[in-house]
Amino acid sequence: MRMKNLTLAVAAGAFAVAVFTAGCVPKPKQDYSPEQVKELDSLEELMRVQAQTADPQFNHIDQTAFTDVEYASIADAARRLQVTSETLRTRHSQNRPPSFTTYATRLFELSGELLNATQAKDVGKTSATLSSIRDTCRTCHKEHR
Ligand code: HEC
Repeated sequence: MRMKNLTLAVAAGAFAVAVFTAGCVPKPKQDYSPEQVKELDSLEELMRVQAQTADPQFNHIDQTAFTDVEYASIADAARRLQVTSETLRTRHSQNRPPSFTTYATRLFELSGELLNATQAKDVGKTSATLSSIRDTCRTCHKEHR
């Protein structure tokens, strides 16, 4: 009996971990135009836009070929990340240590590189840049979240 309860507790714990790591990021409250993204005062909401934009594209990391539709979708995400990261830098970096601005700037630069890579249909560069973007999200979170 005790053993069974323990098993259930472990199972419930594992389930909770699975649910929370599967990316239960709340969706943004609405679809924002680029102009509206630039006006977002809530960093949390801006991050939700970033997650909605970037997370699906991270599934493409390590892919060895992309269809034209995939390139177009990654390019759209890259353009949107240029807007979110620029907003992160200009509107949300005040009263933050300098490295915050550095990561926001890095994200902006990588988004431009990602856009170029998709336009050149460079598989390796597209995949590698997506990976660098994910690293930048993670590094900034480790330090500043
Ligand atoms: C310049 C630093 C920085 C970068 C770069 C960054 N983040 Fe964040 N992120 C933060 C901080 C700070 C928070 C906590 C914000 C809060 O809760 O007010 C956060 C929170 C989040 C959240 C939680 C939002 C919520 O619902 O509470 C998500 C999701 C997120 N970021 C996704 C991303 C993704 C995806 C990327 C990369 C494309 C990224 N972030 C890049 C600093 C950053």
